[in-house]
Amino acid sequence: MREWTCAAISEGRHRLRLLKAAVFLACLAPLAALFARGLGVGGATLGANPVEFVLHALGKWGLNFLLLTLAVSPLRAIIGRAWPLGFRRMLGLFAFFYATLHLLCWLVLDQGLYLQGIAADIAKRPFITIGVLAYLLLVPLAVTSTDRMLRRLGRRWKTLHRLVYAVVLLGVWHYYWLVKADVREPLFYLAMTLLLLGWRVRTRLRRTCP
Ligand code: HEM
Repeated sequence: MREWTCAAISEGRHRLRLLKAAVFLACLAPLAALFARGLGVGGATLGANPVEFVLHALGKWGLNFLLLTLAVSPLRAIIGRAWPLGFRRMLGLFAFFYATLHLLCWLVLDQGLYLQGIAADIAKRPFITIGVLAYLLLVPLAVTSTDRMLRRLGRRWKTLHRLVYAVVLLGVWHYYWLVKADVREPLFYLAMTLLLLGWRVRTRLRRTCP
């Protein structure tokens, strides 16, 4: 009986590892798709303004991964199983990864590393200021995402990681502000964000006043 249980546990762990590898590759798919477009695979292109195309795609994926990270806890509650939690850190780090590429794309390809232009843009264009703020708040979350930091910070880790709520709201605000005409998509992102944050508020209220 004990042997059978051990075998089942090891089989479960093996499956989870395979699933994690598959999710990791899936998270790289948006980047691979951009490379494929850049290389003209299947006749696809990066459009008339390739820098803008790449900048927008990377920003959008940064936001998508932030929302996916926030969706893990509600998913766990809905299906009543803990395994989705094993993917939260990976999804959060991919949000950071795409946001970093987005920033690098802006700094290098859009601004040509021209420091005066970069500083002027950050100071004078509010949507850029908000984007930079969102990114700066994301950095400590990525840096403290290791098990070692979790142990070291103890209860403060959880408090620190609540910053993700501010990051996602700033990310959506950044998106809303930069869109000039059709705001339907940023509003859709806002609705998703409010839904995910609202779920957390409701869960907390239920816990404190049963
Ligand atoms: C590091 C600081 C950041 C800078 C300098 C920055 C800059 C920019 C710029 C220049 C654009 C294109 C604006 C235009 O073409 O009019 C853009 C778009 C965007 N950014 Fe950022 N951004 C930053 C951080 C972020 C972060 C942290 C997120 C969310 C995770 C984000 C999400 C987006 C989104 C969703 C778009 C629009 C994509 C689309 O229109 O399809 N950005 N950003």
